[in-house]
This record gives sequence, structure tokens and C-alpha cells, in this order.
Amino acid sequence: MKTHSATEIKFSNGLKIPVELHKVRMVQKLHLKPVEERLAAIEKGGYNTFQLKTPDIFLDMLTDSGTNAMSDKQVSSMLQADDTYAGSQSFSRMEQAVRDVFGKHYVLPAHQGRAAENIISRALISPGTVIPMNYHFTTTKAHMEINGGEVLEIFTDEALKIKSDVPFKGNIDIDKLNGVIEKYGAEKVAFIRMEASTNLIGGQPFSIRNMREVREIADKHNILVVLDASLIGENAWFIKQREEEYHNSTIAEILLTLCSLADIVYFSSRKVSSTRGGGICTNSEELFLKMRELVVLFEGFITYGGMSVREIEAMAIGLYETTDETVIAQSPSFIEYTVNELDRLGVPVVMPSGALGCHLDAMGFLPHVPQEEYPAGALAAALFIISGIRGMERGTISSVRDQQGKDILADVELLRLAFPRRVFTLSQTMFVIDRVHWLYKNSNLVGGLKFTDEPKVLRFFNGRLTPTSDWPQKLVARFREDFGESL
Ligand code: F0G
Repeated sequence: MKTHSATEIKFSNGLKIPVELHKVRMVQKLHLKPVEERLAAIEKGGYNTFQLKTPDIFLDMLTDSGTNAMSDKQVSSMLQADDTYAGSQSFSRMEQAVRDVFGKHYVLPAHQGRAAENIISRALISPGTVIPMNYHFTTTKAHMEINGGEVLEIFTDEALKIKSDVPFKGNIDIDKLNGVIEKYGAEKVAFIRMEASTNLIGGQPFSIRNMREVREIADKHNILVVLDASLIGENAWFIKQREEEYHNSTIAEILLTLCSLADIVYFSSRKVSSTRGGGICTNSEELFLKMRELVVLFEGFITYGGMSVREIEAMAIGLYETTDETVIAQSPSFIEYTVNELDRLGVPVVMPSGALGCHLDAMGFLPHVPQEEYPAGALAAALFIISGIRGMERGTISSVRDQQGKDILADVELLRLAFPRRVFTLSQTMFVIDRVHWLYKNSNLVGGLKFTDEPKVLRFFNGRLTPTSDWPQKLVARFREDFGESL
């Protein structure tokens, strides 16, 4: 794909690698332990990468949530935090940033993205309503269902194809959306939700064209549109790269256009502005007042909303930085490099590359492991054992069971290797590519997993599993054969 960016740097010898447009001024020591110690660590953690501890991890690619590197300006802004219960100037600065970047006047703080989801779901969803969306996110769905709503995923046929050259796999299917409204009636639709850089299908963006069509349908039927803007910076970046009409627009302009097409915009600041916290914004006074009541009840007073004022200051700066191409392009360009290299090596990986991480296709990687034995979870454990790289299972373990207690098999089994913004260097990225490739060549050694302890809600966080055979020991033995005493 052609790039349209001030951040694309050409090498005289034609080399195509991403360049870091920042310098490192504070660092954290990493630990690369012997493979046997990593095996012991994952065993102790119940073969669940959420249960690992950082001293056992080399590259933490679990998530980009709350792990993006902050800028010097963000850190210094924290010193001017105005610590007061009500009327904090820190909040006023954040409010102004949200107005400037998202173009919405009324701003509510929330302690993180799922808290915003709680407020919005309580305010707008009643039992028996449906919420069509391009794809669900785990916490989003949980909040909607607790409030009696039904999530309807209206993705396009291309969305779940692992290898594709469709630039906007995150688009909602317009015909199916019309069909849903016809079937349920507009009054049963609580709202339409669009998720920027659709997380669970591999960080895939939607286009402005698609969002405009959604807006038209919503206007026709008097339905609200809610935009999950947690990964909106990257979505805007892909629009600039891939949607012809916007090649010459700035990220700031694209962000304002996207948000203008939604009635409510909410976000996790852990992602969008490289800090903590979250928020909701709208231009409707009526919606604002409805949600404000819930913010004071669940989050805290409306000038802090469960966040520390330091985080609020850093959020304000982080939001402005989201309009800066050199900031926003960093993670997608490293992901693109990794995805293209892995694809060149024959490793099955979600294409085209998207936001937040590189997504390995676990069913293609481990075709011999049935979905009931959680291939994405097994792949996460195996990669950690042989490399110290911690990824996140995004497959059936992240799903739920049906009424009969049978696993609802996920549409796709992915291992996500997140690239938090400005955190990893190119040599670390090359290490990732090398170890994933080695594991792919030895993938016949990897077996499945089964639950030994399974929580009822969001089981992927705290569940414990065990291997279905002694495959981890065999994998360690092969590692030693190939790498000798090396870590
Ligand atoms: N919406 C999207 C699209 C998200 O990716 C997340 C979080 C949330 C909402 C919830 O926000 O964590 O601040 O409560 N995603 C994280 C991840 C957890 O690792 O992808 P939160």
C-alpha cells in the first residue's frame, strides 16, 4: 500500500524499515530468563499470560492499554495538577482538549473505558433492545448484556478473513444494518456502535465513507450513533493512508470529521492518550445531563471522575499528541513491518496490518489443535516459553459458554502481540519476528490446553489452564537443541 505521510523516511539503499521519531530519555530494565524458568513461570500462572509477573517477562506485548510511553510534555504536565475535589483546573484543561480534538462540547470523565461503557449502557440500554455494531469488545458486550441489551455484530464478510487486501475490514455492513433495523424496528435499537480500529478482529479500521453511511441511516430512523474512540488515532492514520479522499487531510481534521458523525464519543485514555482514565463527550445537553447523574454515582465528582488529577493533566496533553502524525504512526508502522516480515516468512498473520498489535492466526499456526483446546491460548503459552514474549489470547478463551455449558467457539483464534506506542525498538521487533518464525517451524510440538479453574465472568483474566500433554517440556528440549545455552 502506498503511504501518504510525512513520517515515511526513505533509505538510500531502498531499505524499508520504520524509524523512531522520538528519543529515549527514561528506561526500564528488562529480564530475559532461561527457558526452564519461563516454563516454571507459565506453569505457576496456570498457562494464562495474564497471570505472569513482569520479572519473568522479556517483551510485554500483552496490551497497549496503559503501557504506551508517555512524552516528556505529558510527564511535566503532571506537576501542575490542580488537586481539588470540585472545580479542578486540570479538568478544565482536559475538557478543552476533548473539545478541540473531538469537537464535542460536553465532557464527562470516567476512570477508564469500561466505566464509560457502564455509564452509556445504563443511560441508553433497556431490556429487549439491540445494539448493532461493527464488532464487539469484551467489556463493551458485558456491560450491554448486564443492562438487558443484545449485541448484534454487523461486520462485512471480509472482516474475519485472515489474509485480505481490503483496507477497511472494520466497516459495518450497510445492507445488514438496514436489515437489522427492518427486523427489530428502529425503536428497539438502543444505538449503533462503531468501534475505531476494531480490536478483536485485529485492530482493523473503518472508513469515513462507511461512517457517513451509518450516520445517514441513523438520521433516517432517528437512532443514536456511539463511537468507541479508544483507538481512534490509529483509525484516523489508516484513513489518511488508505482512503483516497483524505490523503491530504491532517489527522486533526480526520478526527473531527469522524467524531462529527457520532452523537456520543467515548474513549479509554489508557489507549488513546497514553495515560490512564477515560471519558465521554457529546454535543447534546440532554444526553450529557442523563449521563452526568451516573458519573457522580459511579465514578466520582464530574471534575475528576475516578481519576487522579495528574492523569487528567497527562490525558489533556496526550489527546493533543494524538493529532500528531509522528506519534500516531509509530505503532502502526512497527506493526506493518512485523506483519509483512512474518507474512514473507510464511507465518499466518492477520492482513492487512492494523492497529494496536500484530495478530497471529492461531488456527493457521496450529491446525492440529482443535478449537475446543484453545489454540490461541496454547500459542500464547508456547511463545512465552520459548522467548519471554507475553502476548494476549483473543479467541475462545476470551469467549463464554452457552446455556448447556459448551464453549461458544470464537470467530477467529488470534494471538495478539501488542505494540504499545514508542516502547519497543527495531532490534526487539526483529527478535519477535525471529522467535515467532522459529516457533512456526516447530509448531507441530505445540499441543492444546484445558481449564482447571474457570471463572464465570471474563474468564480469560483469572482462569487457570493446563496442557493436554507434556508438549511444553518437549518444546523446551527442542529450544535447547537449537539455541544451546543461549537465553
Ligand atoms: N473499547 C476498546 C476498543 C478497547 O480496546 C478497550 C480496552 C476498552 C473499550 C475498555 O477500556 O480497558 O480502559 O476499560 N482494551 C484493552 C486491551 C483492555 O487490552 O485491548 P478500558
